[in-house]
Amino acid sequence: MTNKQNGSYVAVSAGMLLAGHISVRAKKIVEEADIVLSLMPHPIAENWLASISNKHISLQSYYGEGKHRKQSYDEMIQRILDEVKQGKNVCGVFYGHAGVFAWVPHESVRLARGEGYSAYMEPGISAEACLYSDLGIDPGSFGIHSYEASQFLFYGHQPNVTSYLLLWQVALAGETTARTFKTSRRNLEIFVEYLLQWYPKEHKIILYEAAFLPLDKVRKDELNLEDLPMAKLNLHTTMVVPPAKKMSINKELVEKLGLDELLMNDKQQQV
Ligand SMILES: C[S@@+](CC[C@H](N)C(=O)[O-])C[C@H]1O[C@@H](n2cnc3c(N)ncnc32)[C@H](O)[C@@H]1O
Repeated sequence: MTNKQNGSYVAVSAGMLLAGHISVRAKKIVEEADIVLSLMPHPIAENWLASISNKHISLQSYYGEGKHRKQSYDEMIQRILDEVKQGKNVCGVFYGHAGVFAWVPHESVRLARGEGYSAYMEPGISAEACLYSDLGIDPGSFGIHSYEASQFLFYGHQPNVTSYLLLWQVALAGETTARTFKTSRRNLEIFVEYLLQWYPKEHKIILYEAAFLPLDKVRKDELNLEDLPMAKLNLHTTMVVPPAKKMSINKELVEKLGLDELLMNDKQQQV
């Protein structure tokens, strides 16, 4: 029988850096939970969770090469809900920000709430937050937009070439089976062909990987867009496409607002 009074769920964000990015609040939730179900990128992170939690279980075992990822996700969510329905205070731990490019945390919170349980998400430090520090990019300078790489391709999203473009899960770009953890060279060539509509082939892109262990070297490899299909891509690689064009002032609107164009140029330099 379900115990709606007692069951609860928090999807906690662990941040990127092992044990170092988790918030004080989030760590306390992990320590006090009846059960901790995690989806972390590395066994070392699981060991750390086991050291601060009474009962830690990894959800990684629900993945499998050849198994459809949707099925893995459904099983993970079901496991979380089953524990909540037993009246436990359940904590899900997800690396980075639990709500950034991650379906299981959002869906598990939504379903638990839908069944009348207390459920929410604790925010955290995502790969994007680390990228701003490591690459020295301020999203306020030129703007920034983010897409999952395959979605960008499949749905024909169009980039704004005056701002930064982040492409997540580039190692899976164009992968259609959802049963494997890598894409093909051909898919990457099609991905590049698509981007060449807006960017020159020598446009410099950055392959970014934030540190997971304190001594890890941050990856910030710069290469020509055309060379992407030959590059080493990991599941945790994010592709950064810097602006290809300078921003231009909307003169009509600036005039309408009574703003001075020179002042606007100055402002653009400052951000
Ligand atoms: C399923 S999403 C999870 C993102 C995570 N929730 C976050 O807050 O960053 C996986 C994608 O996040 C990005 N990512 C994950 N770890 C990363 C790292 N260490 N450095 C850079 N990007 C990373 C990559 O684009 C990767 O394909």
